[in-house]
Parts: sequence; structure tokens; C-alpha cells
Amino acid sequence: MKLRHFFRLKPHCLACASEENGTFPLAINRVEVADSKGHENESIIEGVIRCSNLLCQCEYPIIDGIPFLLPNVRETLAASIGYIQARSDLCATTQSLLSDCCAPDSEFNVNRQYLSSYGWCHYGDLNPKNSDPNAGSTFQAFQVMDDCLNSCRPNHSIWSDGGEVAIDLGCSVGRNSFAIASKTNKLTLGVDLNFSMLKMATRILRAGKVEYPLRRGGVVYDDIEFHVDFEHSDLVDFWACDATQLPFADDVFGRCNCMNTLDSVASPFALLQSIARVLSKDGQATLACPYDWSSSATAIESWIGGHSQRADHRGSSDAVIRNLLTSPNQGLSSLRLVSEQDNIPWVVRIHDRSQMHYSLHGIIIEKHGSKS
Ligand SMILES: C[S@@+](CC[C@H](N)C(=O)[O-])C[C@H]1O[C@@H](n2cnc3c(N)ncnc32)[C@H](O)[C@@H]1O
Repeated sequence: MKLRHFFRLKPHCLACASEENGTFPLAINRVEVADSKGHENESIIEGVIRCSNLLCQCEYPIIDGIPFLLPNVRETLAASIGYIQARSDLCATTQSLLSDCCAPDSEFNVNRQYLSSYGWCHYGDLNPKNSDPNAGSTFQAFQVMDDCLNSCRPNHSIWSDGGEVAIDLGCSVGRNSFAIASKTNKLTLGVDLNFSMLKMATRILRAGKVEYPLRRGGVVYDDIEFHVDFEHSDLVDFWACDATQLPFADDVFGRCNCMNTLDSVASPFALLQSIARVLSKDGQATLACPYDWSSSATAIESWIGGHSQRADHRGSSDAVIRNLLTSPNQGLSSLRLVSEQDNIPWVVRIHDRSQMHYSLHGIIIEKHGSKS
């Protein structure tokens, strides 16, 4: 965790926040391992952040450079303990042996599948040994963000707007966070709940080393490893935060990026409310989503569209979201739908012979501010 981001963003405690008492700032309580001491990039690799409220004193750990600033930090850590303790020193042979022993749907192999899909999707184009014809194509994560911005707002200087700090919600392994910082030259924070994806992003941030298992098929994976160097990566940091309950004050971020995350959270509406809250006045958010709803991520009653086809919207997610953003009584009245674009292509690689081709709905929203 970079001190620069911590002091600029001033996170607050989520455990004791209430309407009645407001919020209490978090303070760095212990630094066990630090990096780049005295440098502007000084980071805490292991340590503890603590609530300043004497009646609360909730502790939030920093592990492998990632602060866990979550409302239910104990539960999340307990659920992620396998990923937190996962070894990264095992050779490819031992890993392949373990892969053979574990079922494809075991935690071990599901995690490898995620890293394979998102590692390829975010960084595959930069792999110097790449022979994959789709890597570096227009379907990849950072390109999707660019496509979304370009097609939603043609002839607009898309990267020049936005305040001092940007947030990438559901950043996964982090490519868009690097892309935002290099295009805007602004402080950028990537947040996600998945520790192994954040760990991969943080390794790239700290060592410029992209490492992920690329699935060939079955439980067969190849180790991919290469170096990258992103411009302005010193402005990037990655934190474990719940995008629907962010530990930040209102109106903090001038730019918000939210690619393919709306249908992955437990409460998509809470995600939109969260964006409405943390976006600064006149700030701009870019969202893209395939609306690939699943009850494993989101209970059906919380989906935005995708059900109740007898209603006026006939179950169309883009119709419901348009409605939510244009009807003043829907609780998102501070947001304005600026533009939208349909059918933005996005590909998620499953293995050598399998890919999921998505067609995304992209929208740009703005928060009413001084100009409105
Ligand atoms: C479909 S992936 C998209 C990743 C990335 N934005 C992209 O376009 O490649 C959804 C991401 O959202 C993350 N996620 C799910 N629920 C979340 C939450 N409540 N807060 C933050 N991230 C979340 C997942 O861990 C995953 O990395």
C-alpha cells in the first residue's frame, strides 16, 4: 500500500460508520515490512491499519502490499485464507502434479483458471513470446475500456477530463488501472475482492513482472512470465475493497472505471449508488457490462433486468439501467446518463480451444455538479 494513496484518499473505518456518528479516519498502526522508505513511492508491505475511534479500534491488515479495507474484514480474510497462504515458490512440475490431483472445480484449479483468463485478457498482448492471434486484438480488457470511451463519446477528449484521482472498480489483475494512470497522469486506485488477482496486479506494480498460469486445456497449464513497464505506474495502487461499500468520503474520484463488474457483485444497485456517492461533482464514470447474470454472484431479485420479462422493460438489462439513470425517483438522481454504445466486443479466454465472446453495453455517466 503506497503511503501517497493512503494519505490522499484518507480511508475511513467501515465497522463503526453510522448516520448518527459519521465516520472515523483510519490510521497506520504498525509497519512490519516496508518498501522504498523515504521515497515518494514508500509502501507498506505488511502492517496494520486501525480505526481511530477509541470505541471501535477495528484492525485492517496489509498483506503482500494489499490493504484489506472491507466492512466484514474478518469474514473476508477467513474466506480468502487459502489464497493468502498459497505458495508461489513451487516449480512448474510440482504445480502440474498438484493440478492433476485436484479436480478442475477445486479451489486450486478454479483460481488458476481465473488467473489464466484474466492474465491473458489483460496482458496477453504484451507477451513477447505470444503466438496467439487474438492477443492484442480489440477484444482485450484495456481496449474494451478505450472502445467504450471512444464510441460513447466520439470527438471528445476522453482522457483530459476527470479530477485528481481515479478508481477502477473490480480491477482484477489491474491492466486498466495502469492504462488510466498512463493516460491521465493521475493517482489511480484499483480495487477488487479477489486476493490472488490483486496479488498478481501488485507483483506487476512492484516488480514489473507478469506471471500467470495459461490454461492449455483440462488441468494442463503453462507458466507465463515476462516483464512490462507502464508509464506512470508510480501513480497506481491496488487495494482489497468492496466496490459497493467503499471506505472513502463522498465526491472523491473524478473518474471511475467499472468494466464487466456490475453483473459480478452481490448488489449491482448498491454498486451504482456507490459510484454516485464517491464520484466528484462533474466526475465521469465509464461502465461496460455483458449482463451475464448468475445466481452464484447475484441473487435473482438483485439483478438489473434479466428477469420479469412480462414487465414493460421485458427483462432487458439495458432498458432497466437506462430507466434507473433517467428517472429522478430511482435513488440515483445525482447521476446523468451521458451516452451509451451497444455491442462492444470482449473475449474471455477459457483454454486453447475455448473462448467466450461477449457483447457489452457501454455507458458513460456523469455526476451533476457545479455546471448543472
Ligand atoms: C468479470 S471480472 C472483470 C474484471 C475486469 N474489470 C475486466 O474487465 O477484465 C469482475 C471482477 O469484479 C470483482 N468483484 C466482484 N465483486 C466485487 C466487489 N463487491 N467489489 C470489488 N470487486 C468485485 C471480481 O473479483 C472480478 O475481478
